[in-house]
Amino acid sequence: MIRYHAECTLRKSTKRIFYGKCLDEGFRTLYTVVEVRQNLSGYVPERKFAMSVYQVKKTPGDTEWFRHDRFGMFIHWGLYALPARHEWVKNHERTPEEVYDRYFRYFDPDLFDAREWARQAKAAGMKYAVLTTKHHEGFCLFDSKYTDYKATNTPAGRDLVREFVDAFRAEGLKIGFYYSLIDWHHPDFPIDPNHPRRDDPDAEQQNVGRDMKRYAQYMRDQVTELLTGYGKIDILWFDFSYPDMTMPGKPWMKGKGKDDWEAEKLIALARSLQPGIMIDNRTGIEQDLWTPEQYQPQTWLTDDDGQLVTWEACQTFSGSWGYYRDEMSWKSPEMLIQMLVTTVSLGGNLLLNVGPTARGYFDHRATEALAAIGDWMKYCGRSIYGCTMADPEFTAPSGCRLTQSEDGKRLYVHLFQYPYAFLELKGFAGKVEYAQFLHDGSEVRFTEGKVEHFGDGLSSSDDLLVLSLPAIKPPVEVPVIELFLK
Ligand code: GLC
Repeated sequence: MIRYHAECTLRKSTKRIFYGKCLDEGFRTLYTVVEVRQNLSGYVPERKFAMSVYQVKKTPGDTEWFRHDRFGMFIHWGLYALPARHEWVKNHERTPEEVYDRYFRYFDPDLFDAREWARQAKAAGMKYAVLTTKHHEGFCLFDSKYTDYKATNTPAGRDLVREFVDAFRAEGLKIGFYYSLIDWHHPDFPIDPNHPRRDDPDAEQQNVGRDMKRYAQYMRDQVTELLTGYGKIDILWFDFSYPDMTMPGKPWMKGKGKDDWEAEKLIALARSLQPGIMIDNRTGIEQDLWTPEQYQPQTWLTDDDGQLVTWEACQTFSGSWGYYRDEMSWKSPEMLIQMLVTTVSLGGNLLLNVGPTARGYFDHRATEALAAIGDWMKYCGRSIYGCTMADPEFTAPSGCRLTQSEDGKRLYVHLFQYPYAFLELKGFAGKVEYAQFLHDGSEVRFTEGKVEHFGDGLSSSDDLLVLSLPAIKPPVEVPVIELFLK
């Protein structure tokens, strides 16, 4: 963190010293962090204002809206919704092409209504959505002229990407396209250790004539279609690279990475077609977005030089990304909300996945979870949107997570474990002007210096701020206390 000192006079009689930093984040110049007033006894910290102290690495894409919006919907939809036992089913079961082809012939999402998806995403508080235009199975939800393996040639008979884009845009959500670098259908994609045909005795012979260069061109052609045919696209989510993967006993079988994808060309193409688009890091070349998967980082992610980056945790409801009928490991709404809060408390975004069914609607378990999150976001979203990691001077007490508004004026204490009647905040004394529960705006009274109560064992210290809470947790999945800072 870079800080600087500057002096200036704000009021005639008061000399103030600004202790903070000046951030240049592309379009905005951000100013001081902590203001210090000179008085007779020295420099007394007075109040915070302006922006968060954290400076995030600048990258070519426009990431500012993204860090503000914090919460998006991932949608994994493809032929794998029919077998309904993982989006990698073709790989896991080494399904031959002619067998997998059944799903192509029977793909008939007669209940698909993109507007209903968009309505649910918006109601859940999501601000953007990323759809699998093509997943590893190679099937395209859009009407590509470079393949027959597309939704328009199934009983669905239409461009599903178009319907997604129109509906989500109409609800005011930003649009992301996931595009799989891996393709288990394309005849030019060489069999590798991740490919469904990897164990075939004649896999090496099957590879003869497969031409990765032609496949890389196919990707560029399709990315061109996606980035020219659907208006402004905000995110391009490539997936994924595995250059070091090998197969015991088959030295010719190699993983694939940025050189195979011709990632530099692919990225340059995408940027030329959609300036400002955010691109993830999974081509193997660092871009705008770091994407930890089914893992909740414990710190704000940094690049190799230690700079804070724009990051997004992607998470599932139940483990797989595609619709998995028999999966029983569904996370509770409380857990999902906690994951969102924890992510934002570390400066990140959450991309939460839905795997729609083969008939095109969201499974009731997903719908219920989205509704529960929406209910929380309706009342507590203020601690998420435009919020980030709390300034280092604020430490969360045990069982809590903090976020702070980017203007530095409000701090949000999320109660993961309800603390009974007092919440002790060390280091907060003298900094808070007013406190309230976020869900209903009811005042939370506080004392400073010590717990005001009878009996022994009461905490006290000069820097202590003690919130007086109702003994019983309010009826909110994760209660939040909003602190207005002085
Ligand atoms: C993985 C999986 C894939 C999923 C993705 C989401 O790379 O291969 O099925 O789409 O992660 O992050």
